[in-house]
Amino acid sequence: MSKSVIVTGGAGYIGSHACKALRAAGYEPVTFDNLSTGWEDAVKFGPFEKGDLLDRARLDEVFAKYQPVAVMHFAAFSQVGESMKDPGKYWHNNVIGSLTLIEAAVAAGCPNFVFSSTCATYGDQDNVVLDEASVQLPINSYGASKRAIEDILENFGAAYGLNHVIFRYFNVAGGDPEAEVGEFHQPETHLIPLMLDAISGKRDALTIFGTDYDTPDGTCIRDYVHVCDLVDAHVLGLKWLEEGRGSRVFNLGTGKGFSVREVIDHSRAVTNKDVPYVEGDRRPGDCTKLVSGSERAIHELGWTPDRSNLAQMIGDAWKWHQTGHYDK
Ligand SMILES: NC(=O)c1ccc[n+]([C@@H]2O[C@H](COP(=O)([O-])OP(=O)(O)OC[C@H]3O[C@@H](n4cnc5c(N)ncnc54)[C@H](O)[C@@H]3O)[C@@H](O)[C@H]2O)c1
Repeated sequence: MSKSVIVTGGAGYIGSHACKALRAAGYEPVTFDNLSTGWEDAVKFGPFEKGDLLDRARLDEVFAKYQPVAVMHFAAFSQVGESMKDPGKYWHNNVIGSLTLIEAAVAAGCPNFVFSSTCATYGDQDNVVLDEASVQLPINSYGASKRAIEDILENFGAAYGLNHVIFRYFNVAGGDPEAEVGEFHQPETHLIPLMLDAISGKRDALTIFGTDYDTPDGTCIRDYVHVCDLVDAHVLGLKWLEEGRGSRVFNLGTGKGFSVREVIDHSRAVTNKDVPYVEGDRRPGDCTKLVSGSERAIHELGWTPDRSNLAQMIGDAWKWHQTGHYDK
């Protein structure tokens, strides 16, 4: 019988890709999700247990039923702008929800925990390559909520021996090359799906927020990582924990940054279509450049992010976009 892993947020974008990778690696991914921003039809690779992170009794039931070897915790709210307007929503769902989940995992004797953190925990540190030792100074409630969960994991690791791997993601993009699952947020805030929507006329022109940054073409620079490379790192992180290699933090990015205009140019080459765009003002809270130092994941986990090039990320997202799943 395959070993079970509880995947919170398994009905969402990254969690559904993680379920596919876990299934391919021989695990049984059990999705635990309240469908607040996820989709039941994205749960394709293992059982679905509907539930909320804040519902301790429901969590206890699911841990008892599956006796998982690990938790992969993706469930969260993750819109930066919303987190500034409604911080309580983020502290409640992300922090109290994660605390409830972590306590349930410890009570059930589940030894391993893999957590989705974010480069937003580093805050606004322009023009430096951010590695795991960089100071964490989040500038929004979303990033602060994720940093708090990292602290909870460190404390619970020390007190109860809960082994954990924390992954700080940069900009996740692309989709399953077989288009069984893909990215679909409602509302969408990510550049590549917004761009593909603009190309196919599903929404108005893309807005470029700020063209006067101190970058070669004036637009912001970000580090994009293919979602399939990202979830592969999670499977490696799970194996790392199962081998007893201890708790560790890893950045997941590529070390290469691309400007908004460069992403637009690549998408023109991939889709053969022009991207309708307008130039707007800077958005408060956006940094000039966020690029990851990801040597640690490459050297220690043996991670090979070989799909994380813009042409493949945009191409796979475009393939998913054209399946029509997007038109729900
Ligand atoms: N997408 C990115 O570029 C990115 C970057 C950095 C970090 N992350 C983190 O990765 C994780 C997954 O992101 P995503 O883009 O797949 O988001 P998503 O919104 O597609 O998925 C999140 C899932 O969690 C579920 N969920 C939320 N609150 C819940 C609760 N209280 N109980 C049960 N289920 C709940 C939602 O229904 C949804 O299915 C998040 O933790 C996010 O902060 C994402």
